[in-house]
Amino acid sequence: MSKTDWRIGIAGLGTVGAGLLNFLSDRPGFSPTGGQTVVTGVSARSRARTRPFDISNMPWFDDPVELARSPGNDIFVELIGGAEGPAKAAVEAALNAGKPVVTANKALLAVHGAELARLAESKGVPLLFEAAVMGGVPAVKIMREAMVGDDILSVAGILNGTCNYILTEMEATGRAFADVLADAQRLGYAEADPTTDVGGFDAAHKITLLAALAFGCAPNFAAAEIEGIDQIDLLDIRLAKDLGYRVKLVASAEKSDAGILVRVHPSLAPIAHPLAQAGGALNALFIEGQRIGRIYVQGPGAGAGATAAAVAADIADVMTRAVRPVFQKPASDLKPFTPIDPSKSMGRAYLRFMVKDEPGVIAAVSETLAEAGVSIESFLQKPIENTHGVPIVLTTHAVAESVLMAAIERIANLSSVLARPRLLRVARI
Ligand code: HSE
Repeated sequence: MSKTDWRIGIAGLGTVGAGLLNFLSDRPGFSPTGGQTVVTGVSARSRARTRPFDISNMPWFDDPVELARSPGNDIFVELIGGAEGPAKAAVEAALNAGKPVVTANKALLAVHGAELARLAESKGVPLLFEAAVMGGVPAVKIMREAMVGDDILSVAGILNGTCNYILTEMEATGRAFADVLADAQRLGYAEADPTTDVGGFDAAHKITLLAALAFGCAPNFAAAEIEGIDQIDLLDIRLAKDLGYRVKLVASAEKSDAGILVRVHPSLAPIAHPLAQAGGALNALFIEGQRIGRIYVQGPGAGAGATAAAVAADIADVMTRAVRPVFQKPASDLKPFTPIDPSKSMGRAYLRFMVKDEPGVIAAVSETLAEAGVSIESFLQKPIENTHGVPIVLTTHAVAESVLMAAIERIANLSSVLARPRLLRVARI
């Protein structure tokens, strides 16, 4: 091995780890500074597991922390996942040993990002996480590097491919959430335990990181408002379409004088809008800067090859000795994240009420909305009868969320309303 060769230790040999080993085996000379890459250590839960690649010539570490500390490698790549446990211990061990870390771990950084950034910067080593957000789409580099000359006002997009795939399939095939999820699990698009994806948590980890990069604040996962797609009813996908919208899981972060609002909700996007057009497992993101205006990126948010390419791009940054703070600003300058009370936020909404098909129902609903100060933008009653009544759906003009919630409570108590009203937000995109 020559002096310019790079010794890489990899902990976690799941989809992304496998993609990275394949890449390094195909392109050992990819370093922009020259020299070869050599995998000088691997670690995973089980050594014996059958894998579609050969690790027999790579030094094995039962304990990822030992691999992280080992002087036998120059760069530690953490692909274990999870906010706590071995991933956190190994990243801390590598940083404490003064070793550059590349990770795809969005949960770890969304929860512990500020303290890990402080540790990395105190040791003068990079902690890079391009693969943690939008897989192969270079969203982190856009935010941290390309937009450093601007002030970012908001980011909003589709950050979870599994949810986007499920919503796209539900609309295309007319099948219910549980059916499509079961298929996605069979095809390997969804995890056996899908909660992190369909519960909106994965998208919330990612938007938490984008908010930190956008606004120079410490990541604050606990402040994210999170609603997943697990309660999505096919009826709402159909009715939203009749009103000219598509349902997407939209993650957004916006800054105002009052603070920062980070949220993940199933939301309506106008069908012709680029976010509505990003189907299947695609990810998509709008970034709005004060000077640059709007930037739109779209691409594969998951998958072995695409995500490993993002890991490799970070490894290349370590090789070039690019020095940047972990987030937008030095860790010591990151502001505490002041969350905005979501009930004060303004937005448009889609409401569905299941009602008895009897005289006066529409009047009662619209009068209650009017009394509460909610203005209706569009209205639709569909002659779809089922045991739970007929649906009436409407969209509202922009209204404070607290006002909307109060109106929904009053309508829920009307005798002609048979079930809890369904609220979906209209995306602010
Ligand atoms: N499970 C994620 C998704 C990819 O479906 O987008 C990794 O974050």
